[in-house]
Amino acid sequence: MREWVLLNPGPANTSPRVRQALLTPDLCHREPEFFEVMRECRQRLVRVLGAAPAFDSVLFTGSGTAAVEATVASAVPDGRSLLIVDNGVYGDRMRRIAEAHRIPAEVLRYDFTTPVPPADVARALREHPEISHVTLVHHETTTGLLNPVEAVADVAAAAGRRVIVDAMSSLFGEPLDVTRAAIDFVTASANKCLQGIPGISFVLARRTALEALKGRAPRSVYLDLGNHWVTQEQDNTPFTPAVQVLHAMREALVELEEEGPAARIARYAENCRVLRRGMGALGFAILVPEGARSNILTTFRLTPGLTYDALHDAMKRRGCIIYAGQGEIRTYAFRVANMGTLTPKDMQAVVAAFAECLAELTS
Ligand SMILES: Cc1ncc(COP(=O)(O)O)c(C=O)c1O
Repeated sequence: MREWVLLNPGPANTSPRVRQALLTPDLCHREPEFFEVMRECRQRLVRVLGAAPAFDSVLFTGSGTAAVEATVASAVPDGRSLLIVDNGVYGDRMRRIAEAHRIPAEVLRYDFTTPVPPADVARALREHPEISHVTLVHHETTTGLLNPVEAVADVAAAAGRRVIVDAMSSLFGEPLDVTRAAIDFVTASANKCLQGIPGISFVLARRTALEALKGRAPRSVYLDLGNHWVTQEQDNTPFTPAVQVLHAMREALVELEEEGPAARIARYAENCRVLRRGMGALGFAILVPEGARSNILTTFRLTPGLTYDALHDAMKRRGCIIYAGQGEIRTYAFRVANMGTLTPKDMQAVVAAFAECLAELTS
């Protein structure tokens, strides 16, 4: 089987060591041997972020959306409402989650290349005293846009409100102070910048916010954040977890600690610099304005005469998987992520592959 260079924003390339960890002996999920792995993952998550002891982590078997939906459905008390920042597909997904759970919501909507101005959040919070939580995506994977999470958290703190951050595609890949005042919940998954295997998502949560969930009627049976936390704290699990995926996640966390979170962030930034410099020389312009771009994913405009499908297939023949733009963006742009085990040298090879494709498709 061929090894692909994954330029989609997760699942990302992993190390052989992480994949090897999947081959754990069969294990019952209600035995101490499994709970040891679960507890180690939960503890390593908060430790590597320097978030202990104020924060704890809660694991979900499910894709990233499971952690987001569990948090949105659990955090907002009855009678209160949510302020949602929507400047991409994942902001909109939080709006749909709130709607599905009948949680009243105000939405601040921007186009896909505009970060939320914190002053807009301050105004909305002044106008809507019923809002208990602000929720926003740190890195909008739709385009590679970064929202100013810490500035929004400061505005929320000043207004006495709490913040939920979807950091799915940025946690461990971009700097983020998860312990910033007002931030109660941060959601992410194993298979992006953590460099683990898909199947587990998690919530980093302030312990006081988790305590506040006790005794509340849940809006969901499976996605009940409070129940998962209380049960995991007792070294137990309410449902059958992805046993093998969790073993791989533990290995990914060990690797992260070995590399160091700052070094990983720096590697991604260098990957990104190599990619953007090379693509710029080939004539590809970047959709998101400078200053609002992450170092994890870039949306490039298609050059004249190039279609996404042709470029995708030509790159795939060279072992590289690029990613379509979402919605109508697909017609004029495409995405290239540089997360996972990729190195600056790999990104040079990716740029060389793009150059070959360009010559093949536009000559
Ligand atoms: C910012 C963001 N939020 C949520 C998700 C949802 O994750 P999943 O597809 O794993 O449910 C993604 C996935 O790419 C994402 O990038």
